[in-house]
Amino acid sequence: MDWFKTLETRQVLEQGAIATEVDGLRIALWAVDGEVYATGNICTHAFAYLTDGHVEGGCIECPLHQGLFDIRSGKALSAPVSKDIATYAVKQEDGFVWVDIN
Ligand code: FES
Repeated sequence: MDWFKTLETRQVLEQGAIATEVDGLRIALWAVDGEVYATGNICTHAFAYLTDGHVEGGCIECPLHQGLFDIRSGKALSAPVSKDIATYAVKQEDGFVWVDIN
């Protein structure tokens, strides 16, 4: 395990989607039904920040070509995306979200 302290849990829960960087990796922090998730923030189809997309029902719609990913599993759900996004373990400690990037 390689835990990195990121942003305040409160911030993530309030905003729902936040871009951050962990050890040089572009990470997205998401709030879905009161739970916090972490995924890669770059679409697997082309270059777009997923946190600029639209979140609904636990899914993120890419802002560039509207590919859909499941935030909890990282699964690519609809064309043109076919490759899943990375997901990362999270824990909450001292009011902050910690992300394990391994
Ligand atoms: Fe995300 Fe094309 S860049 S669907």
